[in-house]
Amino acid sequence: MKLRTTLPLLAVALFATSAQAYDADWKRGRIYYRSVCTSCHVASPIGQINPSGKTKAEWAAYFQADKHAKGKESVKQYVSKDYRAKIKASNKAAEKFADVPEQELLEDVKFFLQRGAKDGEAPASCS
Ligand code: HEC
Repeated sequence: MKLRTTLPLLAVALFATSAQAYDADWKRGRIYYRSVCTSCHVASPIGQINPSGKTKAEWAAYFQADKHAKGKESVKQYVSKDYRAKIKASNKAAEKFADVPEQELLEDVKFFLQRGAKDGEAPASCS
């Protein structure tokens, strides 16, 4: 095979293995959800949003659609490094996890919500 064809294939293979290799940390996801997501929800008119308010499938679909606040914006922006940098002066979790890669933190939060879902292994409230 020519280098031009092998290199992209190699890149895809490496990406696939590294994506799989990440073992989501639901405890870190729980801290982040409770400190960042929940603290804003309780301050907003919406109030607490319990993980156990949705099923695993509903949470998966929610992140797949990536529509937050009735579709006005992305939900993923709230795990971004930019967002963490913006709030870290007043938010301990955002400060503690300031340098965690965005994709990992997203997987952590998703994993916590899967575990804490109505039909998850440990249905959870948000505080
Ligand atoms: C800066 C404030 C803020 C942050 C941070 C935030 N949310 Fe929200 N969220 C809201 C508001 C406000 C609503 C209600 C919007 C409405 O009903 O008009 C909402 C609604 C929701 C809803 C209900 C469905 C919907 O989208 O309308 C879910 C689920 C949700 N947020 C999940 C999350 C998750 C997960 C995170 C963290 C990764 C997060 N939110 C971070 C403000 C925030």
